[in-house]
Amino acid sequence: MKADIVVGLQWGDEGKGKIVDYLSKNAECVVRYQGGANAGHTIILGTKKIVLHLIPSGIVRGKLSLIGNGVVVDLDELIEEIDHLEEMGISTDKLRISSRAHILFDFHKELDKASEAAKGKLSIGTTKSGIGPCYVDKYDRAGIRAGDLLDENILREKIKNYVSFFNTTKAPVYHVKKIDEKILLKATLEKAKKIKNRIVNTHEFAEKLIRERKRILFEGAQAAMLDIDFGTYPYVTSSHPISLYSFAGSGIPPFFDFNVIGITKAYATRVGNGPFPTKMDDKTENLIRERGGEYGATTGRSRDCGWLDLFALRYSAFLNRTNEIIITKLDILAGVKTLKVCTGYSYRGKLLKGYPDSIKVLCEAKPVYREICGWTEKDITELKKNKICRSIRNFILLIEKETDTKVTYVAAGPERNDILKLRKI
Ligand code: GDP
Ligand code: IMO
Ligand code: MG
Repeated sequence: MKADIVVGLQWGDEGKGKIVDYLSKNAECVVRYQGGANAGHTIILGTKKIVLHLIPSGIVRGKLSLIGNGVVVDLDELIEEIDHLEEMGISTDKLRISSRAHILFDFHKELDKASEAAKGKLSIGTTKSGIGPCYVDKYDRAGIRAGDLLDENILREKIKNYVSFFNTTKAPVYHVKKIDEKILLKATLEKAKKIKNRIVNTHEFAEKLIRERKRILFEGAQAAMLDIDFGTYPYVTSSHPISLYSFAGSGIPPFFDFNVIGITKAYATRVGNGPFPTKMDDKTENLIRERGGEYGATTGRSRDCGWLDLFALRYSAFLNRTNEIIITKLDILAGVKTLKVCTGYSYRGKLLKGYPDSIKVLCEAKPVYREICGWTEKDITELKKNKICRSIRNFILLIEKETDTKVTYVAAGPERNDILKLRKI
């Protein structure tokens, strides 16, 4: 029995949705283990574009799909996503939700907005989906969980306690509306009706998967550089996208060998605020943004574009214990004659050995670039026929050398089958 874990190695939007969709053909259960509807995972099937925020991408292939305990679940988003998939003819019958997953309410979104506004110039640039405030409640042991939706009396009691806590503490401090207990209970019960039958006991679900030796594919959202502990704090999300959290965020312990597949674009993007050392000059950035469609799948915000940062990638590959890397979006760089690749950061005249822990150092650090030969549109056409030109080969070798990890697939198009297998691990 072996499991695969797909993780983003950069600042998100590496193409995880596309890769999970591709790899899930061999999986029996696909599991989201953190984050919430801040994620936007795109799958292109011919003329169909499917963007998933909460539901694991394996649902598109009809796989058993679990929203794990580590995820924060916005019921409105979830119901909308289920309805949308069903309208598209994609069955959601096999979607399950851990009873330990926390519920994200509208007031979490209000708190997110208020907190961002109060931070002013120092705001994080969140997706305003309420992620941070919902995790705050979880760690404050004040949260309401999916399992609480199963019993009206328990839910009533939990809501009563929460509302009293919120209205006397958070509402006046954040200057947000007080919650009406009755309205909240009624609305939550209505929504609960629609998803109740999908809620599962975490232990029972995990034990069955292990007993039946099911092939599991974990789907990370966001990415390592946005991890609450290891990312570019405070400009991060409030969960643990790194591979090792897949077990804690699902209740499925590694009673199996696991293979970590790190995803990186051939360049880098970042959306929201925070340092981005390899940001391109405006002209190149605009070109790449337009060609790459670098606009957020969740918020529509334009993503900043930068050169591939191998120093960050080395850190991220190490942290995630990646044993293979997949490079996406090679096609977007076609025609750029000379590519820059960052191989390290210099700080006050010295090369840094480890990725900076301090945001101050990171903001001051300067990327050290190496210039390499680019590739052409023709090379991409050839790549799709299995012929790899020298420039792309050298690019792959450089990534392998700097990260000490083998590149197993490359992608040069958004479609499900726009992917080329280089080797087996
Ligand atoms: P995720 O959040 O990591 O799942 O990535 P997103 O879906 O937010 O953003 C990735 C975007 O790139 C999506 O629009 C994908 O359809 C697209 N994409 C993925 N791989 C490739 C590729 O190799 N080439 C091109 N041109 N687009 C790709
Ligand atoms: P996927 O799964 C890219 C960023 C936000 C912001 C920071 C904190 O599609 O790769 P949050 O709303 O989580 O509190 O925002 O994290 N962010 C993402 N950036 N892709 C994502 O998800 C992201 N999810 C959050 O822009 O900088
Ligand atoms: Mg995305």
